[in-house]
Amino acid sequence: MTEITREAVLEVLTQVIEPNKQQSLVALGMIDFVSVCDNSVKVDLIFPSTDYPQRDQVLQAAREAIQALPDVKLTTVGISLKTPAATPAFQRPANKPTAPVAGKQLLPNIKNVIAVSSGKGGVGKTSVSVNLACALTQLGYKVGIVDADIYGPNVPLMMGLRHAKITGESPEGKPLPPENHDVKVMSVAFLIKEEQPVVWRGPLLDRIIRQFLSDFEWGELDFLLVDLPPGTGDAQLTIMQGASLAGAIIVTTPQEVALHDSRKGLAMFTGQNIPCLGIIENMSYFECDHGQRYEIFGHGGGREAAEKLGVPFLGEIPIVVEQRERADLGQPMVIAAPDSKQAAVFREVAEGVVANLRRVQEQNKVAAHV
Ligand SMILES: Nc1ncnc2c1ncn2[C@@H]1O[C@H](COP(=O)(O)OP(=O)(O)O)[C@@H](O)[C@H]1O
Ligand SMILES: [Mg+2]
Repeated sequence: MTEITREAVLEVLTQVIEPNKQQSLVALGMIDFVSVCDNSVKVDLIFPSTDYPQRDQVLQAAREAIQALPDVKLTTVGISLKTPAATPAFQRPANKPTAPVAGKQLLPNIKNVIAVSSGKGGVGKTSVSVNLACALTQLGYKVGIVDADIYGPNVPLMMGLRHAKITGESPEGKPLPPENHDVKVMSVAFLIKEEQPVVWRGPLLDRIIRQFLSDFEWGELDFLLVDLPPGTGDAQLTIMQGASLAGAIIVTTPQEVALHDSRKGLAMFTGQNIPCLGIIENMSYFECDHGQRYEIFGHGGGREAAEKLGVPFLGEIPIVVEQRERADLGQPMVIAAPDSKQAAVFREVAEGVVANLRRVQEQNKVAAHV
């Protein structure tokens, strides 16, 4: 028997085309949930409205696509209770708070460029970047992300922009960064093919990032997060030199190795006079359905390192399976499950980032527009 995976289900759903927009259900973010158990598949679709006329046609097409998978047992295609209009439970506040403003500004319209870094890959740097970006929009800020992680440019995937292309243009003829969940995104992934190996050199990388910042029409942004490549080498340094950073965030996991790396990461920023806005400990613990807590990678290392290094600690983010599943579908938890504990944690982290930035800028006597 061929074992059916979630990826295989998503793959066939990329071939199901929504009749109005002529794009796949996956590209349009219409897949709310996919679960596979012993070759039985359950999928929930999100429809644009409760009276969506193509409802039955799309349900039928999705069902048929899944039923064509070899050895599939039961196929259930349901309708998610969410509609896109209802999904962003957090409306932008009417009185948008004013963001603090960095001293040296590369572009007048981008107030604060903030790097998100990690000593090594796989610690959840991109997951944190996308959820933090969405949490900042929910606090009322205008936000963009530059995906500078040339080794694994995953921001488009996690932001539901996997198949996005750079098509729009400003009246002045500048290309527009693709946008989803109220966040503008520019990524090296939009410029390269998925299967293409990425071999870049420092100077080229520096130029690309500068171009992302200066040649694209970002509009006004309070925060532009830069998802850096993991590590503390030349590539990271060139990007930082090109971007006039207002601050940096270090993402780590609780183990000692990761902490060792974040020490190096911190040194890299302080060496460039870039303030560290805090350390985030990701994959802190796992809580099972019965409330039992497992500290898989140890615990508390992030807070301890922050104390030792004299930088703020921004929070502990637990391992949540739903987060990973949704990440693959381009649905950050903060948007897709705004009432979850995980979303609340990310919002606290976002508030911490804003508060720390404001404090640093006040200390440095930078005109902080609070
Ligand atoms: N707190 C978390 N809970 C569950 N899964 C997570 C969490 N953080 C990251 N992941 C998952 O771990 C994998 C690696 O995370 P990613 O953000 O891509 O790391 P990085 O950008 O540091 O390489 C992804 O599949 C992501 O969805
Ligand atoms: Mg990444």
